[in-house]
Amino acid sequence: MAIAGKDELMQRLIAEIDNCRKCRLWRSAKKSVPGEGDLQAILMLIGEAPGYWEDAEGKPFIGAAGRLLDRILTENRLERKEIYITNIVKHRPPMNRVPRADEVEACTPYLERQIEIVKPRLIVTLGVQPTRYILSKMKIKFKNISEVRGRFYDGELKGIQVKVMPTLHPAAALYNPEYKTTIEKDVEKLRRKLP
Ligand code: URA
Repeated sequence: MAIAGKDELMQRLIAEIDNCRKCRLWRSAKKSVPGEGDLQAILMLIGEAPGYWEDAEGKPFIGAAGRLLDRILTENRLERKEIYITNIVKHRPPMNRVPRADEVEACTPYLERQIEIVKPRLIVTLGVQPTRYILSKMKIKFKNISEVRGRFYDGELKGIQVKVMPTLHPAAALYNPEYKTTIEKDVEKLRRKLP
C-alpha cells in the first residue's frame, strides 16, 4: 500500500473512531471497539456491535459469544490472530439494543475504510444486521438470514473483489444447540475456501 502503510492507516482510523461523536452511542459507552486482528488477513469477520465485555475492554468478541466463536474457529484450524474481526458499529448500544439505522449510517464509513485497508478476500457476516448492511452494499436482496446463510456471494466492496458468506450470530447459538450446529457447518464450508 502506497505512502502510508496499513498499520499507519489503521492507527489513524482507530484514533478517529475513538474520538467519534457522529452519533449518540459514544455517550453511554466506556470504550470504543474499533476491531482487531491481522491487517494482512484473507478473512474478515463482521459482527453487529460491542456488548458489555467488549465495551469494558475495547476489544471485539471477548464475551460469551466471542468465546463460542473462538471455539468454532479453532475446531476449523482458524486462529483469531490470522483473521481481522470487527463490527458494523464501534460503540456499544445501551442495554445491547440493536443499532439504529442512523447509527449504522454514521459508523459504517469506518468499516468501509477497514475493508479498504485489510482488503480481505472473504468476509463472514455474523447475524442479521451486518448481513443486511454488506449485502445491500453488494446490491443483493436480503429478506431473512436463513435464506442467505452458508451461501457465498461474489461481488465488489470498495473496489475489492470479495466473497461474502453470511452466518448466524454466535450469541443466538449460546442457548440454541441447533444454531450452534448451523454456524459450525457454515464455518466448515468457509474453511474449504481458505488455503
Ligand atoms: N456481539 C457482536 O456482534 N460483536 C461483538 O464484538 C460482541 C458481541
